[in-house]
Amino acid sequence: MSTWHGLINSGYRRWLPVTDDTPAVSLHEGNTPLLRSAHLSALTGCEVWLKVEGANPTGSFKDRGMTVAVSRAAEAGAETVICASTGNTSASAAAYAARAGLAAAVLVPKGAVALGKLGQAVRYGAQIVEVGGTFDDCLRIARDLAAHHPVALVNSVGNELRLAGQRTVAYEIVDALGDAPDIHCLPVGNGGNITATWRGYQTYIAENLATHLPRMWGFQAAGAAPLVRGEPVAEPETAASAIRVGNPATWDGSVTARDESGGLIAAVTDEQIFDAYRMVARHDGVFAEPASAAGIAGLLDRHRNGHLAPGQQIVITLSGDGLKDPDASLRDGYTSTQTSTATADVARALRLAA
Ligand code: F0G
Repeated sequence: MSTWHGLINSGYRRWLPVTDDTPAVSLHEGNTPLLRSAHLSALTGCEVWLKVEGANPTGSFKDRGMTVAVSRAAEAGAETVICASTGNTSASAAAYAARAGLAAAVLVPKGAVALGKLGQAVRYGAQIVEVGGTFDDCLRIARDLAAHHPVALVNSVGNELRLAGQRTVAYEIVDALGDAPDIHCLPVGNGGNITATWRGYQTYIAENLATHLPRMWGFQAAGAAPLVRGEPVAEPETAASAIRVGNPATWDGSVTARDESGGLIAAVTDEQIFDAYRMVARHDGVFAEPASAAGIAGLLDRHRNGHLAPGQQIVITLSGDGLKDPDASLRDGYTSTQTSTATADVARALRLAA
């Protein structure tokens, strides 16, 4: 039995910007499940796979980049890491900082972060600053502070370390499938993940470990779709709070991934996102957070409009765990039955014959 000890301690280490002097700050991130979706495959006539990034230690793909960024920050002697976040980056930065014995400061848009993510950052001991603005304001401030104070910025902007770590998702996918898929669908917020995933596939081509590249299909929420509109959105709005970003820091990288791959970045409505969120839980047993479902929503939209040829192999990134945002799950309302402690009463509630 082989054992997994995280990305820096894996065979992928050779493609990560670390040296023998870099301490491996790891929570054994990576090596996440790649599940075939029988439901989505039947629905689309394609082979559809789900890359379940919620299975990472803090519940999102952010851990792939954070292990590298915080390891290198620790190596450089940093005492404090700082980031702006819609929630997941802050949870991940706080966890890896705790593991490394560093302080973490996280800037989040006030009142706009899912409960689970805030709960994580609190418990990992981060200093939390709720900024009365958008994620984009938080990022501007975090960059400013890092430029003028002794704090290490661990956002992917200007931090190739994060993107280098996030590339590993593509390595795992090709290693599992034996080659790259035809299409890779994923949600797009700040643009780092589509950029990193694309570069990961390119690395595997350069190393002769894949025979072709996928088309990258990125999806933004309709109310927060600057890359689709071609200009920043001042007041981004979507119930998928993780991707409520109006001015993506990795703008050029996202556009490059789209264009070089012959892919697209399109918008999906919140209704489509939440339909997909319910569907993947109900039919595949995967509870992913709402923003995570944008890739599925986009794929289904393309299929419905006749823009998806059958027979293709498709991978969809499910970027974060549904437990991050319990409110989103319960917002629909739900039914349950109240009973006494008598077995017969419970049997009646379940309509089981006496
Ligand atoms: N999915 C989830 C669950 C996310 O948290 C994010 C980004 C994305 C998708 C989009 O990835 O930004 O690389 O395009 N969350 C950032 C954060 C903004 O602060 O946690 P991206």
